[in-house]
Amino acid sequence: MPAIVRIENLVKNYYMGTVTVHVLKDMHLSFDEGDFVALMGPSGSGKSTLLNVLGCLDRPTSGSYYLGDVDVAGMTDDQLSEVRSTYLGFIFQSYNLLPQYTVVENVELPLLYQGIKLDDRTKARCIALAEMVGLGDRLDHRPLQLSGGQQQRVAIARSLVNDPHLILGDEPTGNLDSRTSVEIMQMLRELNRSGKTIIMVTHENDIASWARRVVRLRDGQVESDTRNDTRLVVEMN
Ligand SMILES: Nc1ncnc2c1ncn2[C@@H]1O[C@H](COP(=O)(O)OP(=O)(O)O)[C@@H](O)[C@H]1O
Ligand SMILES: [Mg+2]
Repeated sequence: MPAIVRIENLVKNYYMGTVTVHVLKDMHLSFDEGDFVALMGPSGSGKSTLLNVLGCLDRPTSGSYYLGDVDVAGMTDDQLSEVRSTYLGFIFQSYNLLPQYTVVENVELPLLYQGIKLDDRTKARCIALAEMVGLGDRLDHRPLQLSGGQQQRVAIARSLVNDPHLILGDEPTGNLDSRTSVEIMQMLRELNRSGKTIIMVTHENDIASWARRVVRLRDGQVESDTRNDTRLVVEMN
C-alpha cells in the first residue's frame, strides 16, 4: 500500500510574545492508504495540532508533509484550501453544522466552497449520502431538530461529498453517549472497509479499539505505534 500521508522532521512551534511553545518535536510518521488510525495521548500532547497540520488547516514550522506525492508544507493559503476541498474530509467533535441550513444543504456545503455549481445532480448526490447515513427521513430538518448522533451523521455525509482521499476526525464521538458512539464508529468502520483512509483523534481506549492502528503522542513526540489487528492475531495464536 502506498503512503497517503508522510511527515518527516515535522516541527510545529507557537510563538507567544517572547515565548516559543514547542508543540510537535521532530515527528516522523507515515500512514498507508486504506488505514484507520487513532491518534491518542494526554491532553496537550499535540493531537489536535498534528491533525490541523495533516488537515492543511495549519502549517508546520519546519519539516515535510507529503499528502500522496505532493509536499504540502510549503503551499500558499490558496493552494492549501484547494487541497482541503478536493482531498480531505473533516469530522469535528462539535459537528460544525450551519444551524440555518437543512440536512441536505449542510451536506452540500463543501461543494459550494469548492466553487461547484449546485444542480439536480449534486443535490441527488447529497440526498443519497444523507440516506446512506440513515437520515433519509430528515432531509429538510435543521441541525437543532436533530439529536447529537444525527448531527454527527450529517457531518459524516458532508465529509464524503467531495469523495475525499482522507477523512480526519477530531474526537468525533466526544460529545456522544456510548451507544451513539458505537453507531458512529460502526459507520466509520464501514467507510474504512469501503476503502477510505481515516485518521481520528480520541482519548478513549474504547473508541481507539475500532481503529486498525493506534499512535500515541506524548509531549509532541510519538510514544508508541501499535496495530490493533496484529495484536488480535497474536492473541488468537
Ligand atoms: N494556537 C496556539 N498557540 C499557542 N499554544 C498552542 C496553540 N494551540 C495549541 N497550543 C499548545 O500546544 C500544546 C498542544 O495542544 P493540542 O494540540 O491542542 O493538544 P491535544 O489536542 O493533544 O490536547 C498545548 O500545550 C497547547 O497549549
Ligand atoms: Mg485536542
